[in-house]
Amino acid sequence: QTQAATRAPPSSNIRQHSDPKPNVDWDSFGFSMNGVRTDYMWLNRVEAKEGDNVMQLIADYSASPNDCLSEFGTFQLSPAATVLNYGQALFEGLKAFRRVDGSIALFRPERNAERMQNGAKRFLLPPVPTEVFVSAADAVVRANSRWVPPFGKGALYLRPLLMGTGDDLGVKPSWESTFCIYCCPVGNYFKGGLKAIRLQALRGFSRAAQGGAGHVKASGNYAPAFFAQRTVKQRGFDDLLCLDAATGNLIEEAGASNFFAVFPNNTIVTPCLNSETILPGVTRVSIIELAVRECGCTVVEGPIQLSDLHEACEAFCCGTGASVTPVGSVSVAKIDGTEDKEECVIFGDGTTPGPITQRLYNTLLTIQTGTDEDLNQRYAAW
Ligand code: PLP
Ligand code: COI
Repeated sequence: QTQAATRAPPSSNIRQHSDPKPNVDWDSFGFSMNGVRTDYMWLNRVEAKEGDNVMQLIADYSASPNDCLSEFGTFQLSPAATVLNYGQALFEGLKAFRRVDGSIALFRPERNAERMQNGAKRFLLPPVPTEVFVSAADAVVRANSRWVPPFGKGALYLRPLLMGTGDDLGVKPSWESTFCIYCCPVGNYFKGGLKAIRLQALRGFSRAAQGGAGHVKASGNYAPAFFAQRTVKQRGFDDLLCLDAATGNLIEEAGASNFFAVFPNNTIVTPCLNSETILPGVTRVSIIELAVRECGCTVVEGPIQLSDLHEACEAFCCGTGASVTPVGSVSVAKIDGTEDKEECVIFGDGTTPGPITQRLYNTLLTIQTGTDEDLNQRYAAW
């Protein structure tokens, strides 16, 4: 198999890029490639074999940075690659932040490694060990360090991919696995910073059903929502809110972030993960901990009926891309637009973040960017 991309220089040279400071307007960046091509990516194509157990594939991903770091660019795929034909693909998303002291820190990469391993089990892809995942992520950040935005101006977003790239028409797990990590500097996922977003749920659309793959970060979970997502955006909303497939009345999550509602007496509710229809967000689990330890809230992982929102004082979404994003309103409509009477709940004035949302946003960003010595110490294990 050819690795079409050019090999990177030895790692000792990687950090000495001839153009250390990119001449870009960091403030203009949104959640996209932003017209930037970073310098290096990680690319490791390995043979996937059956281990002792036919239900779990194995592969040796232990190659050195010199072998795996190549210039950012294209790579070749057979049209018969399993990923193209049958969607055997997972992805991850994590951020590296420039801290106030100038150092760079990845936010909880082990959690992303574990989630990708869970997905690999389900997709019969050979899992990438946590140490390999984290050291590859680390190498990608070091090799692209000039693309980590300055303190306070966004982050370097890493996108790990794991996919079956072997050529085989057969409907079965691929004989070759490719682990790739590319990166891109990003700004806010939703335009307008901490301005509250408007969500719309669509009756007749489901992202995931019980028994499906909603709880793993499968690439194939996203394109099936494009139509629904564009439908709500065309109607002026910022994102889709996904309801459960079984009853259509329970809130699950937003298009690419987890959902929380804040009720009186500082009780926060977020949908529980038992149904395996919701992505277990790294930000979600972090926010649950911060809400309890830093904000004195009671957190309940349990059902949220649409009608419960009438009692909520605040709502927000959270995710790697989304950070903590206040939700200003939630409405419900039919996917075909035939229902003209839409239910709508507005939180506060519909635009300003509520106090708990604001506090969680500040606390999370403070930890990510290392601006508070006390929090640095208490969350050092993250
Ligand atoms: N839910 C979905 C569907 C997502 O795509 C994401 C983003 O990764 C999340 C939730 C939030 O997960 P995390 O906090 O790990 O980014
Ligand atoms: C993230 O927030 O990191 C995600 O992966 C969600 C997304 C599809 C942009």
